[in-house]
Amino acid sequence: MKPREIRPGIHAVGAIDWDRRLFDSLIPLPDGTSYNSYLVRGSEKTVLIDTVDPTMEHELSHHLEDLGCRHLDYVVANHAEQDHSGMLPRLLERFGQARVLCTPRCKGMLMDFLRVPEDRITTVEDRQTISLGDRTLEFIHAAWVHWPETMITYLKEEKLLFSCDLFGSHLATTDLYVTDEGRVYEAAKRYYAEIMMPFRANIEKHLERLKGYEIDIIGPSHGPMYRRPAFITEAYRGWVLDKPRNEVVLPYISMHGSTRLMVEYLVGALADRGVAVKQFNLESTDVGKLAMALVDAGTLVIGVPTVLVGPHPNVAQAAFLANAIRPKLQFVAIIGSYGWGSKAVEQLGAMIPNLKAEVLPAVYCKGLPKGEDLKALDTLAETIAQRHRERGFA
Ligand code: FEO
Repeated sequence: MKPREIRPGIHAVGAIDWDRRLFDSLIPLPDGTSYNSYLVRGSEKTVLIDTVDPTMEHELSHHLEDLGCRHLDYVVANHAEQDHSGMLPRLLERFGQARVLCTPRCKGMLMDFLRVPEDRITTVEDRQTISLGDRTLEFIHAAWVHWPETMITYLKEEKLLFSCDLFGSHLATTDLYVTDEGRVYEAAKRYYAEIMMPFRANIEKHLERLKGYEIDIIGPSHGPMYRRPAFITEAYRGWVLDKPRNEVVLPYISMHGSTRLMVEYLVGALADRGVAVKQFNLESTDVGKLAMALVDAGTLVIGVPTVLVGPHPNVAQAAFLANAIRPKLQFVAIIGSYGWGSKAVEQLGAMIPNLKAEVLPAVYCKGLPKGEDLKALDTLAETIAQRHRERGFA
């Protein structure tokens, strides 16, 4: 594939990774991803904005050769994570005059992670500008989207925002721009849920600051570019600011069918009361889908059987993930079953301290659920429905 022109002298030179199926050895990538890199030529200076994952070195190199790029003045490192900065050492060897531009906090990370020589790095302050001749770059510090050192780069004359991971989507596509908003919405929401959601208070502040910029195009560091920036900025506002929905997310696992019976009963009881439920069997769940469901849910109910007195390990893993991504849900409950003895409720409850949620009474029974257990599940369903109504979850 050739480099693609965005505007005269501005090209997308990144790499599409169709085959990658796991990120950070953790996050499933059902649709691959891309590592976006942008070459911007001004009348006096040439700059590369972000690089690509080191596994895709050949693509970036070919693009720069195709464009006859023999000189770089700057490489902007918006973010130190290696899928964007990993090619810096090679590029600095190849382009002996190039200097890296990054935030002060990013500087140390690039030296630690990639052994970038200190004397090749120039730090930039928040809102600092650099002239490329007829074009101007402005750097906007954007800590915690999703690392502490991150920044965003604004190309003033073109009203083009290079937003780094913010607004990104793990989506391999030959489309330079979003063509199917429904598909990109799903991928961007998954991406937000997995890495941005824990930092939504910071993201809210950055969204406010960005209101002061005229933006025609957003170029994130993963997935297609946005020619209609409001599509993604409004989606982010909804994910960050909207009240939770009248929804329960119910991840569970069942070893001998008892917990499954309880889950099925509770799902019916909630549905009867007008509460939507998203049920996930953790034997085979894509954790990205579970994370996405947690973006909007008002309540998390965890269905867990007991293994060796504690919670089933697969459920513990899901609880750990939910605790890490800090969704805005406001209620949590645990249901399940044990054989002869259990500390599963206490142990699992202790694993989710980050969920600033009211913990509703657990329903935990020995063996198959009996009449009083089903009654307790009805009470739990009624409590959830009532709490959602009181909080105005729609
Ligand atoms: Fe796409 Fe935080 O790296």
